[in-house]
Amino acid sequence: MIMPIYVYGFPVLKKVAEPISNDYPELGDLIENMYQTMYNAKGVGLAAPQVGLSKRIFVVDTIQVMKEEDKHKGIKKVFINPQILEETGNPWSYEEGCLSIPNIHGDVERPAVVTLTYVDENFNEFTETYEGMNARVIQHEYDHIQGKLFIEKLKPLKKKLIQGKLNKMAAGNVTADYKIKVFKP
Ligand code: NI
Repeated sequence: MIMPIYVYGFPVLKKVAEPISNDYPELGDLIENMYQTMYNAKGVGLAAPQVGLSKRIFVVDTIQVMKEEDKHKGIKKVFINPQILEETGNPWSYEEGCLSIPNIHGDVERPAVVTLTYVDENFNEFTETYEGMNARVIQHEYDHIQGKLFIEKLKPLKKKLIQGKLNKMAAGNVTADYKIKVFKP
């Protein structure tokens, strides 16, 4: 089931999300719906707050954006109750966007390597280290469950330039080519 993506303005996008318990009802359906919603919107990651659910879960598929010879380096994975343990490596800049903030892009600097613990859909625990595009998408999605958005990490001038668009978005003036839920103040 494709769910509507909540856009900038909704308080749920600014909240620290709650852990998922191991008896969470219909977790498999939620994961499946999150993947469908992400693919429908041509995203590489989607976090639960983006579908209005303040829970610590996100899905990632970077295989889509890897070059043909690098496909095996991509990941398709669900991260539940993740905890970032360490971010290392040289910070690098990359132009990010977000399904919850349509039509806005900007350079964000993030450390190159991330180590985190998480559980999968069967509540098996993992500790893993990622780099490159995998790390970046994980960091972006992790921010979502911490109630943070990539626009907060833009340079001051860029922030100024997009403020008008953001204000309009939060006032309900926004469109996208996928299903969204527009905030009505
Ligand atoms: Ni996002």
